[in-house]
This record gives sequence, C-alpha cells and structure tokens, in this order.
Amino acid sequence: MNENSIELKHVSKRYQSATKLFQSKSISPLVLKDINLTIPTGEFHVFLGQSGCGKSTLLNIIAGFLPKTSGQVLVNGHEVTKPGSDRGVVFQDAETAIFPWLTVQENIGYGMKMQHVSEKKRQPIIHHSLKLVGLEEHADKYPYELSGGMKQRVQIARSIANNPSILILDEPFGALDAQTRRIMQNELINIWEKTGKTILFVTHDIQEAAYLGQKISIFSKSPESRISITVSVDQSYPRNLYSNESEQLVNRINDYFEVGGPAK
Ligand SMILES: Nc1ncnc2c1ncn2[C@@H]1O[C@H](COP(=O)(O)OP(=O)(O)O)[C@@H](O)[C@H]1O
Ligand SMILES: [Mg+2]
Repeated sequence: MNENSIELKHVSKRYQSATKLFQSKSISPLVLKDINLTIPTGEFHVFLGQSGCGKSTLLNIIAGFLPKTSGQVLVNGHEVTKPGSDRGVVFQDAETAIFPWLTVQENIGYGMKMQHVSEKKRQPIIHHSLKLVGLEEHADKYPYELSGGMKQRVQIARSIANNPSILILDEPFGALDAQTRRIMQNELINIWEKTGKTILFVTHDIQEAAYLGQKISIFSKSPESRISITVSVDQSYPRNLYSNESEQLVNRINDYFEVGGPAK
C-alpha cells in the first residue's frame, strides 16, 4: 500500500470561458492557483472554504471528473486521468445521486452489477454496507420512502460497496437538519474508524470542520484560491465542541477564514 493517498503538486484550474470564443483578449481567472498538498493514507482530511472558492472543483479534479489546467494529481501513486474504483464520491444532493426506481439495496449493488459481479457475491457486500450505515431494516424501500439522512446513508453505502480506498464527500450533510447532521457526522467517524479509508470531506462550516478533521485545509478567497494553511487537530473522537481546546481551534480557524489567509 502507498504511504500517500493523495499528492497535489502545483495544481491550478481555469475553466474555459464561453466569451473567449468571441473576444480573444478575454480570459477567465484561475479558480485554483498552485495547490500543494500531501494526504497520507487513512487520514480524515477536511477542506474548508467559503462558497465559490473552488472546493468542488478540487474534489472533482481528484475524483477524475474534471481536468486540471496545470500541475500534477497523484492518487495512490498514479496520475489521475479519469474516475476510478479507488475513489468513491458522495455528493451533497442525494436526490440526483441515487436512482429513484431502484430499492435501497439495488442502489447499493448497482456499481457491482455494472461490473458483472455475481448476485451471490454482491449480497454479502450489500449486507455489510447496509449494516455499516444502519440501513438493514430498509433494504427493500425505495428512495421516496426515505428521509434526507437515510438517502445520504444510501449514497455512502453505495460508495463503500465498491470498496474504494478513498471516500470523497462534497458537503454531504449540508441539506440536513442540525440533529441529523450530528448523527451522520458521528456515523462517518465510526465508518472511518472501522474501515481505515482515507476521507476527503468538503464543508464551508467551521464547526463541522473542527468536529471531524484530523487535518483541516483552509482555502483563501476566490479567485485564484490557494490553501492558506493546513491545521492539524490533535484531538480524539468523539469531540466536544464546547471544550476549551475546541473553542481555541474554532477561533484559530475563524481568524484564517475571515482574512482569507495571508495576502497573495
Ligand atoms: N463548469 C464551470 N464553468 C465555469 N466556471 C465554473 C464551473 N464550475 C464552477 N465554476 C466557477 O468556479 C468557481 C469555484 O466553484 P466551485 O468549485 O463550485 O466552488 P465551491 O465548491 O467552493 O463553492 C466559482 O466561481 C464557479 O462559478
Ligand atoms: Mg461546492
């Protein structure tokens, strides 16, 4: 196994501007500028930044859905050129990510079915994934019968069923109420502790970052966003956000968040 799950070297991203076709001088700004980061295997790494700073862009580049403009992106030692089964992605909007016409277990087994894994082999994996997210009782339900939190559990279980070494989650709990959100955060920590997967988790919420991250990479403001700082959090789980330690951490992150990092 590789020591490093992710290596980002001088990664920059510029979207092609539609106006460029008509105005030769118009060039869209860099969204991400010179991102450098190494994430060791098994780390719970949080990306924190304001809306529009390029968090989803970076995750999509790592996932292989989007091309980078320059730099190098290595996943488990290999250059990323396309999506792969080593990376499982969980999106914010479960509604569009899971199939409404398939049951919970059919959704979870879908990827394996597409890979021609036999029914006999799929079943124990589906069962294990259902158990990991606490959905055993709901295996035969359809998405319309599930709450928002349960739909997110289906997405997480579906990713885990494909046994990726890296789980990529883009603001997965953003649409959930506060109580469900906390339950899901605790479940994700449990899953991470049980499976040892590398987790990349995006949020714009400082408290969520402080509750979850072993490392927290804070983005500077857009455009030309960079990672201002990566903060190490030496606290065990489950964390108490009202402890002195956590309050200090939140204040420290807040300082970086407000100023958007050192001047560029
Ligand atoms: N497909 C696209 N084409 C052009 N610009 C885009 C595209 N996707 C995102 N952007 C722009 O890139 C910036 C970063 O977007 P995004 O990565 O979604 O930010 P975040 O996830 O941090 O909210 C924003 O200014 C957004 O408008
Ligand atoms: Mg986003």
